Amino acid sequence: MIQDSVTIILPTYKEVDNFPSLIDGIERVKQTSIEHLQLIIVDDDSQDGTIECVEELHKPWVQLITRTEDRGLSSAVIHGLDQCKSEYCIVMDADGSHPPETIPAMVEALQKGADFVVGSRYIQGGSTQDGWGVLRWVNSKIATIMARPFTKVKDPMSGFLGFKHKTYQQADDLNPIGYKIGLELIVKCGCKNVDEVPIHFKTRKYGHSKLTLKVQWEYFHHVLRLVRYTHPKLVSFCSFATVGLSGAAIYVLLLSLTTQLISSKPLAIITAIWLTMTWNFYWDRRLAFWNARNRPIVIQYLGFVAVCAIPVIVNFYLTNSLSEENAIQYAGFIGVVVGSAVGIIFNFLMSKFFVFGK
Ligand code: GDD
Ligand code: MN
Repeated sequence: MIQDSVTIILPTYKEVDNFPSLIDGIERVKQTSIEHLQLIIVDDDSQDGTIECVEELHKPWVQLITRTEDRGLSSAVIHGLDQCKSEYCIVMDADGSHPPETIPAMVEALQKGADFVVGSRYIQGGSTQDGWGVLRWVNSKIATIMARPFTKVKDPMSGFLGFKHKTYQQADDLNPIGYKIGLELIVKCGCKNVDEVPIHFKTRKYGHSKLTLKVQWEYFHHVLRLVRYTHPKLVSFCSFATVGLSGAAIYVLLLSLTTQLISSKPLAIITAIWLTMTWNFYWDRRLAFWNARNRPIVIQYLGFVAVCAIPVIVNFYLTNSLSEENAIQYAGFIGVVVGSAVGIIFNFLMSKFFVFGK
């Protein structure tokens, strides 16, 4: 019998038909293995009889929270974790995919020193019930590979999680978007020692999955945000360089346009330069200096323009003089490449510390 207290967080949305057998399973665990077991159901106003069903249970160890403002799996989990008063937390799906019998082994892994534990389909002894379409399988594999840089866990997509409440409280800057709260917690709580306990992942009996295309799209954003979190400087500089490259291409294209529309060549070049600078500003602000997105944009824009002075002068001079003998696109290409090469480090540092700095 495990003596430490454990709370299970159960995010639910329209799962009432799955409750009876799941709660039976959890109750068996309470009777046989974990005396101080609590269950917190975080339901996003399913309106499918969830409230009545939980009331009829009359089980003091089961608590239902109905959220009406927010919706979303990860934010529901965080909401539940904030209410948890136990030493250990378990997060699991409510659709019967995750076997409650595994919970004691998960808690034991934590007691033995793991920082974090996942119920895993992809280690020896783990499996997935047949009937998973090829598409879902491929999806899961791709998502798993994308998580590789953050953790060596074999099943980082698992939604069956265990950790100490203390570990959760150490979480830095949680961003509860999408489905992958496990990955988010592993990264943001700085968990190094992640253990896996094999599970057989069952196909749900009732209801349907809420994993939509939108959720999968959110996962891309999630991974991007996690890379920003773990390697902020690298991501910032690479984005800055990529935006610079795109700007060079835009500039060459714009030149063909402006030189046709504006008869004065210097003015045409300056217009192309100015539009390119604005393009770069917009994307640098979004992608390279994302932390500064909510500060005053006009001041940032003026600062950005000022910082661009040196590459702009180099670029203007080269484009203007080379185009005497060459096609404007060729001149512009040389101009923007040399100008950017001269300016890239200077511009990046100036943008980082002055334009988008605090
Ligand atoms: N409160 C709340 N709000 N709960 C939600 C919401 C929501 O918006 N969306 C889903 N849930 C609950 C479901 O009711 C279920 O208990 C659990 O979250 C998982 O949702 P499913 O819709 O069954 O997800 P899935 O089976 O496609 O995905 C699961 O397996 C994946 C691995 O194959 C999840 O565990 C994923 O995290 C996991 O990656
Ligand atoms: Mn499911």
